[in-house]
Amino acid sequence: MVLDALMKIKNECDGSLTFRRSCREGICGSCGMNINGRNQLACLSFIDQNLKKPTIIYPLPHMYVIKDLVVDMNHFFKQYAYIEPWLMRKEDEQTYCGIQYLQSQRDAKKMENLYECILCACCSTSCPSYWWNGTKFLGPAALLHAYRWIIDSRDEYSEHRLRRINDSYSVFRCHTIMNCTVACPKHLNPGKAIAEIKKLLVGLSKKEEADMPPAKLREE
Ligand code: SF4
Ligand code: FES
Repeated sequence: MVLDALMKIKNECDGSLTFRRSCREGICGSCGMNINGRNQLACLSFIDQNLKKPTIIYPLPHMYVIKDLVVDMNHFFKQYAYIEPWLMRKEDEQTYCGIQYLQSQRDAKKMENLYECILCACCSTSCPSYWWNGTKFLGPAALLHAYRWIIDSRDEYSEHRLRRINDSYSVFRCHTIMNCTVACPKHLNPGKAIAEIKKLLVGLSKKEEADMPPAKLREE
């Protein structure tokens, strides 16, 4: 894998080479980089067997480079925090502490291909709209997560979530270029999630009622 080659270079040739990695199995999302012109995870990318051909590696595009392959992810994670990626209920905190909320299998299925996102930023940094409007357009990764919480049958703040992103930049700077979906190493479809948010925002679709009331079970 490309990550093995980078570790070999760091261990044997140049100890100053700097890159992020942790899990080395496509779960932590820290080794996103541009390999041969495509944003990918170094730990999941094979080195071209034709060793006569160089493998060309750059940091994720259009991000501030801190050193070598390490880019500044602060803004990316601030945008993720902006969509409030946690369950929001109308009960006060004291009430929902230690409580389990139920969800039907059908409702849970709506979040498939969304919650698997590992926040590697390969999608957002391959999106021309994000390159040009990165301060105001939330980008595919944050919006994929926004949709995951909006359609969660247990969440009671969908309207509030939609209001916070209902302006001409946050969502609507997506022009359905779909580089995000092509780039995603987890085979997710952020472009589709953004399209679903747009439909909710313009009233072409509506969040369905939960199949079952989220009955609360107190833990023993
Ligand atoms: Fe990475 Fe895919 Fe999540 Fe984008 S949607 S951050 S490419 S895992
Ligand atoms: Fe964790 Fe690559 S090292 S995703």
